[in-house]
Amino acid sequence: MHTQHGVAAASTGRRFGPGLMARLDALAAFTEAEGQLTRRYLSAAHIAAMHQVQAWMAEAGMSVRIDPLMSVFGRYEGKAPGAPAIMIGSHIDTVVDAGRYDGNLGVLAAVAVVAELRERGERLEHAIEAAAFGEEEGSRFPAHILTSSALVGAVGPELLEVRDADGVSVREALARAGGNPEAWRDCARPRGEVAAFLELHIEQGPVLEAQGKALAAVTAINGSVRSRVTVTGFAGHAGTVPMGQRRDALTAASEMILAAERIGAAESGLVATVGRIACLPGAQNVIPGQVAFTIDMRSPSDAVRDRAHAALVSALQETARRRGLEVEIDTYQRNAAKRLDPLVIDAVADAITACGQEPLRLPSGAGHDAMIMAGHCPSGMIFLRCKDGISHNPAESITMEDADLGAQALLEAVRRLDRRLR
Ligand code: GLV
Ligand code: MN
Ligand code: MN
Repeated sequence: MHTQHGVAAASTGRRFGPGLMARLDALAAFTEAEGQLTRRYLSAAHIAAMHQVQAWMAEAGMSVRIDPLMSVFGRYEGKAPGAPAIMIGSHIDTVVDAGRYDGNLGVLAAVAVVAELRERGERLEHAIEAAAFGEEEGSRFPAHILTSSALVGAVGPELLEVRDADGVSVREALARAGGNPEAWRDCARPRGEVAAFLELHIEQGPVLEAQGKALAAVTAINGSVRSRVTVTGFAGHAGTVPMGQRRDALTAASEMILAAERIGAAESGLVATVGRIACLPGAQNVIPGQVAFTIDMRSPSDAVRDRAHAALVSALQETARRRGLEVEIDTYQRNAAKRLDPLVIDAVADAITACGQEPLRLPSGAGHDAMIMAGHCPSGMIFLRCKDGISHNPAESITMEDADLGAQALLEAVRRLDRRLR
């Protein structure tokens, strides 16, 4: 027997786990690349996954809307139609060679929670909106957390001109995918229409597992800064140019990357990563003439992050000067660290307790749609234990029992928010 709220409902167990894991496996089949999961924003795989999620939302009794930037929203009305919504969800784009749970877990758990409410005939004071955002990762366009940013009205028309590595703009990609780029302003939602945002997500780190806990209430999300660096030297013959007369862009970039590592390691909580590098012309017998690489730097403190980033920029310029090369640093995105809302954090912690689990309270090192939504409405996150803390890797893994608990906690948190937000 289920009780309406709390422990007895939790003890019935496995309401969500098997179905949720089966759908996560099914969604993982939507990929650009055979043999791995790669689903970048507006790829054919992303569009197909979107339509699959749309179908599952409709099946769960939601009315479904796809916005001009291809976020999917399924709405389950509350007791009175048109009420402000509690939005639950995450993203369905992935990194290259991804795991199957990052983002997708939060979207499919949201669909499962609404399906459960509908099956029980349970309507809340608030509507529930399940959300599937896109380009959270920034793995196609240099525009991390794009579609949730559009929802909160934090993007301008320049977003349409942002280009991927093949030179395709967001405008062109949207038009090809059947979207409506010129209507991008319609993505913005007025304040108050979304009463709160809640995202279930794998932890992507090792803390829950180390502490033997399944779930955590997330307290804050680290800020980040992202730059593209282009180092220009001079290409030449690998056999004829003496070592002392070279302007090798790759050896200079190597020194710069080590500087990023050194500066990133200098403060607790600070991290710096060079995740992508391209070397031109890229031939065995040619001295590299140009190298482009990315920098991703994060910290719980915006001041620490900005100071470290400035120190890195100086180190890069010094290396370029000393080696006689040019360096161009394009810092295209800065996201402030965000504290999540105390009311939502408490609702999540109480929901985890109601599921028979002891809630940890943890900050997030990774970026999430919730950090953008937090500027728009009370927002929070539930973290779910993942194996060895591995993420952004095909070895990402969760258990069915934890998936079940995560969805239960999401449902319980929604019920608590529905009462406490009045
Ligand atoms: C998103 O996964 C990010 O934190 O980069
Ligand atoms: Mn994610
Ligand atoms: Mn991710």
